[in-house]
Amino acid sequence: MNRNKSSRIAWGVALAVSAAVVATPVLAADFGPVEPMKINAEKAALGKRLFFDPRLSGDAAISCSTCHIPQKGFSDGLALAKAYPGSDGFRNTPTLINTARKAAWFHDGRIGTNLNDVTRESITETYSMNMDMRLMQERVKQDPIYVKMFKDAGYGEPSNGSIRKAIPEYLKTLTSRGAPFDTGKMSAAAQRGFDLFKGKAGCAQCHSGPRFTDDMPHNIGVPENPEIWSNPMRHITFVTFANFMGIENYMNIRRDVGAHIRTHKVDGSDMGKFMTPTLRELRQTAPYMHNGTSKTLADVVAFYNRGGGNDANKDPRIKPLDLSKAERANLVAFLEALSGDPLTGPEHVWKDKINVNYAVIEDWLKKTN
Ligand code: HEC
Ligand code: HEC
Repeated sequence: MNRNKSSRIAWGVALAVSAAVVATPVLAADFGPVEPMKINAEKAALGKRLFFDPRLSGDAAISCSTCHIPQKGFSDGLALAKAYPGSDGFRNTPTLINTARKAAWFHDGRIGTNLNDVTRESITETYSMNMDMRLMQERVKQDPIYVKMFKDAGYGEPSNGSIRKAIPEYLKTLTSRGAPFDTGKMSAAAQRGFDLFKGKAGCAQCHSGPRFTDDMPHNIGVPENPEIWSNPMRHITFVTFANFMGIENYMNIRRDVGAHIRTHKVDGSDMGKFMTPTLRELRQTAPYMHNGTSKTLADVVAFYNRGGGNDANKDPRIKPLDLSKAERANLVAFLEALSGDPLTGPEHVWKDKINVNYAVIEDWLKKTN
């Protein structure tokens, strides 16, 4: 069956048919490479500059690239992300490579529409960039380079609507390339790992398709990261988020509820489910899991070999694997072979300095342009 299509099914339906989806034998043809997307060059160039511009945050201190760092596979190397000054993050920063292909975004999958909405949330939430869209629009309008770039991109005057379109156009340029898995240069160990992945280790039941994900939430029993509950800055950020998302008992819970944020099941069976992440570019994106509790790929494989973590909602497919030391090493070699060339050249990174030291406008109230 066509997994790309199946992953686009609305969640309610997808959850109902998920058992059928995973029962389908996984064919080698289901995997990679990730094909490049059609791009509008002017819009993507504008989106690139916006992505690296700290003026898109409330106090002009952080940009998207503060957390999504090209040299780290557009993640940040931290277990838990930073956040807007005065708060601190409670989730691991995911890679943005191939993100334009996803069916639902954020670790809990709470946005299932499009990257325009993800960009809006990233810019405006108090715990990410804490920006007022109207202020952002005015700031961008004051920069003559932007005025020209918006015009060249066919957007007319800079507006918050077109900012939310241009950034996703840039994100579409972030496509994996050059992984040994795609170029046919996998080592023999990695090849044996791939066989385990599809067979005995059962990984492909959830990690399938060119990005190695079914774009669905599952509970694999990842333990809580105690740092979220012991560090007041992180805890208050979580409480704010949970309150805003309508989570019951948000002052007292001491767990990240995951996909429950979106599906709010009364029986709580969606608690602790997180979106299956892509397995591409893992060499650049440690540490792993929604809360950064696995430091290395060997740790992740050891976790699965033990049968995952302890959780009442744990997926029954996560059980002890009884893999030998050599088999575990092969699996790690395979996971490493899914990482390709870093996207750190000028094609993906805005290299020019962004000048934010403007001369004061004299008599600005009387200015007409
Ligand atoms: C302060 C750090 C930070 C900043 C700044 C930031 N992000 Fe993120 N980003 C994160 C974290 C952490 C997550 C995961 C959040 C979650 O799961 O709740 C995330 C998730 C995402 C995702 C979803 C990825 C996925 O796999 O589901 C996209 C897309 C994204 N960010 C784009 C952006 C864009 C565009 C900007 C700038 C407008 C931005 N981010 C700014 C930390 C940051
Ligand atoms: C039942 C579905 C399922 C199966 C089977 C499964 N995974 Fe996962 N995998 C997930 C989910 C869901 C997560 C994210 C959990 C979280 O963030 O808390 C994950 C996370 C990961 C990560 C971390 C990626 C990152 O960027 O943080 C790796 C690596 C991984 N799995 C590899 C494997 C391997 C190897 C196997 C086989 C031994 C496997 N998975 C089997 C669902 C599954």
